[in-house]
Amino acid sequence: MKIGALALKDNVLLAPMAGITDLPFRSIVRGFGCSLAFTEMVSANGLVREAGKTCRYLDSSPADRPLGVQIFGSDPRTLAEAARIAAGKGADLIDVNMGCPVRKVIKTGSGAALMRDPNRAAAVLDAVRKATDLPLTVKIRAGWRPRERNALEIGRIAEACGVDAVILHPRTVDQGFGGLSDWGLIAALKAQSRIPIIGSGDVRRPGDAVRMLDETGCDAVMVGRGSLGSPWIIGDILIRLAGGVPVPMPLARREETIRRHLALASDYYGEKVGTRDFRKHLLWYTKGLRGSAQFRQVAGQITDQASVWRALEAYFHTLSSDEPDDGDDPALRDP
Ligand SMILES: Cc1cc2nc3c(=O)[nH]c(=O)nc-3n(C[C@H](O)[C@H](O)[C@H](O)COP(=O)(O)O)c2cc1C
Repeated sequence: MKIGALALKDNVLLAPMAGITDLPFRSIVRGFGCSLAFTEMVSANGLVREAGKTCRYLDSSPADRPLGVQIFGSDPRTLAEAARIAAGKGADLIDVNMGCPVRKVIKTGSGAALMRDPNRAAAVLDAVRKATDLPLTVKIRAGWRPRERNALEIGRIAEACGVDAVILHPRTVDQGFGGLSDWGLIAALKAQSRIPIIGSGDVRRPGDAVRMLDETGCDAVMVGRGSLGSPWIIGDILIRLAGGVPVPMPLARREETIRRHLALASDYYGEKVGTRDFRKHLLWYTKGLRGSAQFRQVAGQITDQASVWRALEAYFHTLSSDEPDDGDDPALRDP
């Protein structure tokens, strides 16, 4: 699989997720074999103004490569400048966000609002294309609402502007994350395109990835929410695509992954902020595990690393003594 000049070792990618795909989380997912990951969406304005916090979104590490940096904004010149800055700071690929439905973003004409203004969308892609030789992708939705589904039009514009691949999350903006994504639209976009098409939406189990590739003919799949609490899912998908059968993540390895993730978050953000931010991951990691309700209640209050470790140790000790067969792996459960 190639995106422009970037050759990837496989075609299963980690989706950009604001508030989630930070360097600690990406490092964990990379450890399970993820080839291409994306930053959270980064404000083009923030980058251009050199806001320290914004630049932090670009932090990476040698193991966190290749890295796609996703930028959002509405002004072509600002986005072009942001792409240059991201390239200068080591991005391997630039992705332009045209799918974010969050009010704060769309009210500035950014994110999915760009799909409602095809001329501006073209101006943005043209400007960013001219600003960098890096591989360039655009991430879009199906359209604004059912009567305004113009993903195919934006896909044509992207190709004409020299974009190297289009990522499609086929829900309309007014759908948010509800309902099902329309994989038929991914197939239609693939059928009309000469550049690679990457499908995003509802890949929750390894079998979903196989189905999306088969049913839509897309070149790659992207995993978002399926990786929450199961950062090993991309590894499981790769095993499945190679004809193997992924096995449930052993409890000991699951516990070790949580500990490693927490240690990374704590180092990166500092113990207090890192631990507080990590609570959501703890809840995802333990969702569906037996007897997790009590643990989750305790975990939701914890503010220091040592307490998390103690609570984890006690909880996993109960699990392993009760359940020597490693229990249920949400990443492998049937839908
Ligand atoms: C919490 C959350 C944050 C997200 N943030 C972004 C983002 O910053 N940029 C983006 O293009 N998509 C974002 N998305 C959308 C995902 O990249 C993906 O397209 C969508 O969740 C559908 O895929 P999934 O069913 O595999 O989750 C976000 C999704 C979630 C759930």
